Amino acid sequence: MRFTFITLFESLIRPYFNDSILKRAIERELFEIDFVNPRDFAFNKHKKVDDYKIGGGAGLLLKPEPLSLAIESILENSQDAHIIFTTPVGKLFRQNDAKRLSKKSHLVFVSGRYEGIDERVIEKYADELFSIGDFVLTGGELASLAMCDAISRNIEGVLGNTFSLKEESYEESLLEAPSFTKPNIFENIAPPSEFLKGNHGRIAALKKTLALAKTKFHRADLYLKSKILQRIKEDEK
Ligand code: ADE
Repeated sequence: MRFTFITLFESLIRPYFNDSILKRAIERELFEIDFVNPRDFAFNKHKKVDDYKIGGGAGLLLKPEPLSLAIESILENSQDAHIIFTTPVGKLFRQNDAKRLSKKSHLVFVSGRYEGIDERVIEKYADELFSIGDFVLTGGELASLAMCDAISRNIEGVLGNTFSLKEESYEESLLEAPSFTKPNIFENIAPPSEFLKGNHGRIAALKKTLALAKTKFHRADLYLKSKILQRIKEDEK
């Protein structure tokens, strides 16, 4: 898998891959990252990449020409580039998108800056538009990075232990059950005693119950969608 970031600010993204799991994954060639800067395609006098909005309005937009040339430079050398624009008007990025996109061979993230991107470039090149939440960032870099992180950990081999993918939050629309580590007593509180007894079947059953309770408490919207809840209702019929 290859991730290409189109951004004016490579330095906002690159350091994230200099440590920990994603660094190791790159060293093990499970995926690669590269960067394209639209400023390198700004062939005007001052290498200008932004301009005022036609028709007025606050802020500056990324100009269409440098960005489209940057994208074309990638398309020239890639048959399978899947182009994602990060924008607050995109659909909400979810765990199932992370899983789906982890099967692609080349993802290109276009990070907007200033007040956004000229709509004609989006219309021409976007395969998908994503938002990472109902808030506005100063630029798309954090959004691209968040998505890349969530996608890459679904690539085979990136997480050493594949069980961690199975048990984690959002599987079947449920949040992950609470977990505990040593010491057994902390601030006078012990984990549920079942966890200490080592009966894996009973621990798994308890985890499901706790996951349901946690989801109901923190995310009632997910709880109502949960497949497990639906199954429980079916069983009760
Ligand atoms: N750019 C600015 N805000 C954003 C958001 N919430 N999601 C994705 N890209 C963005």
